[in-house]
Amino acid sequence: MSAEQIRNVSDTALATAGWRAMESERPDALFHDPLAVTLAGARGLQIARSRPDGAWVVAMRTPLIDDFLREAVSTGIDTILDLGAGLDARPYRMDLPSSLRWIEIDDPSVIAAKTELLRGEAPVCSVERFGLDLTDPDAYREVFDVISRSSGRSMALTEGLIGYLSEDEVATLANELHALSSCELWVTEYFSTRLLRAYQKHQPLPEAPVRFNPNDWTDFFAEHGWVVAEISYLGERSQQLHRPAPIPLRDRVVRMFTSRPLRDTGYALLERRP
Ligand SMILES: C[S@@+](CC[C@H](N)C(=O)[O-])C[C@H]1O[C@@H](n2cnc3c(N)ncnc32)[C@H](O)[C@@H]1O
Repeated sequence: MSAEQIRNVSDTALATAGWRAMESERPDALFHDPLAVTLAGARGLQIARSRPDGAWVVAMRTPLIDDFLREAVSTGIDTILDLGAGLDARPYRMDLPSSLRWIEIDDPSVIAAKTELLRGEAPVCSVERFGLDLTDPDAYREVFDVISRSSGRSMALTEGLIGYLSEDEVATLANELHALSSCELWVTEYFSTRLLRAYQKHQPLPEAPVRFNPNDWTDFFAEHGWVVAEISYLGERSQQLHRPAPIPLRDRVVRMFTSRPLRDTGYALLERRP
């Protein structure tokens, strides 16, 4: 039987759940996601195991996003808007207040499968799910309108999403989030210019290509009203935790002489500019 492959962008949700399952079963796991095995299913696990580099990315990013979330909730954020939520199960595995409102948007097929798989599981807070296309602002604006009428202070989360959108689509999303006055914070992935250019030369997942390619990541978000409060870099986190990235030997030699790749990617906490 040939190995399962990623066929489209929705399959990245399966792979990511599979990588969370792989991390969760390690003796030195950096987090435990007991539902990840079920959510990934046999296909997600097979895809994930065929690409162990993804497990490192997920192991590095998950705890630091958890920290951003805990910190935001401790300061009174009452709604999380998880865009491209995939098969993430934070409302089931994290210690979050029961009063928190967790809103998820993803492709209808992903949301339908997730709802079915999690039937019978109890989240720690309220969870609402919407299956729609995040390249269609008319569709997601309806959800944002509901939030603007009924939520106090919200934070957006786009974990592993924006790379799959075009600059225009991310710009529209950034503008719409900025127009949502309750949305104070946004946690999203950071890419250095070097890495963005590298993706255009070599797509790691050709069936789910990285389309986002701004001239400068920080300037792009600032132009749409979102300024960097903090960035946690995966490479630096990896060094601190003694969890080296699974990179080829020849690249490791190059990296011994430069610290720049340690800051190629990470997760940023953005604040809305008034
Ligand atoms: C790499 S996965 C990450 C999922 C989740 N945030 C996580 O970390 O497990 C990317 C997710 O973005 C979703 N996605 C990508 N483009 C989308 C679009 N145009 N509309 C809705 N969801 C989209 C995919 O379906 C997938 O679930």
